[in-house]
Amino acid sequence: MGEARKPLISGNWKMNHNHFEAIQMVQKLSYLLSVNDYDAVDVSVHPPFTDLRSVQTVLQADEVPILLGAQHCHWEAGGAFTGEVAPSMLAKLNVSLVIVGHSERRELSGETDEAVNRKVRAVIANDMTPIMCCGETLGEREAGTTDSKVSGQVREGLAGLSAGQVGSLVIAYEPIWAIGTGLMATPEDAQAVCATIRQVVRSDWGGEAADAVRIQYGGSVKPVSAPDLMRQPDIDGALVGGASLDPDEFARIIAYRLVG
Ligand code: 13P
Repeated sequence: MGEARKPLISGNWKMNHNHFEAIQMVQKLSYLLSVNDYDAVDVSVHPPFTDLRSVQTVLQADEVPILLGAQHCHWEAGGAFTGEVAPSMLAKLNVSLVIVGHSERRELSGETDEAVNRKVRAVIANDMTPIMCCGETLGEREAGTTDSKVSGQVREGLAGLSAGQVGSLVIAYEPIWAIGTGLMATPEDAQAVCATIRQVVRSDWGGEAADAVRIQYGGSVKPVSAPDLMRQPDIDGALVGGASLDPDEFARIIAYRLVG
């Protein structure tokens, strides 16, 4: 058995909240969370780029242990990449977690597994932790190809990394049909895919990496569904979209362990 994996609950704000709203959100969230929450769960928020500096300032000034996250970055260190942001720029803002390969970016911006792999490496090279996303479409689920799709994304997204690197990062399983739809994988189905992901890590990177890597579930997670999801042995956290926009709702998800 490896060491216990500390759960990680992350709020992906997507393209929501300007920097004034972001400050209010994170202040409100910090009032709702206690030292007991931070002891039990790592918490991160992932605001849009334009909010990062403001949120960083609030977290630092008030010594709030919420981790600052970004939603994406480029893999290059700098140069002629209009509209992009380099990993080192995020690291300078105390960003510690970067979402890589979210399905919305794969779909809307054509991010390939190869691009995801480059970004994962760049994030690690800048001493931050990637949250590498994977997940199947409804068609793929119905065709019975969920496991092969997700396994391929994990193998290609993490190709070339050492066992130690894989053991320290986060993989988010987000079935695309469950994102923003109100539909959710059952805890049993989510557990089954997360177990497959851990098995892929075990076979390619070994037992220590498999026992250490944290696997989140994402897709319409709500306060009412979080406790059952978090009880699953291979689910170590949640990547929350819509419900993370409301500090009350997000805090109730973080408090999943106090329910029943
Ligand atoms: P929802 O929680 O809104 O379904 O979003 C999930 C997600 O994509 C988080 O990255």
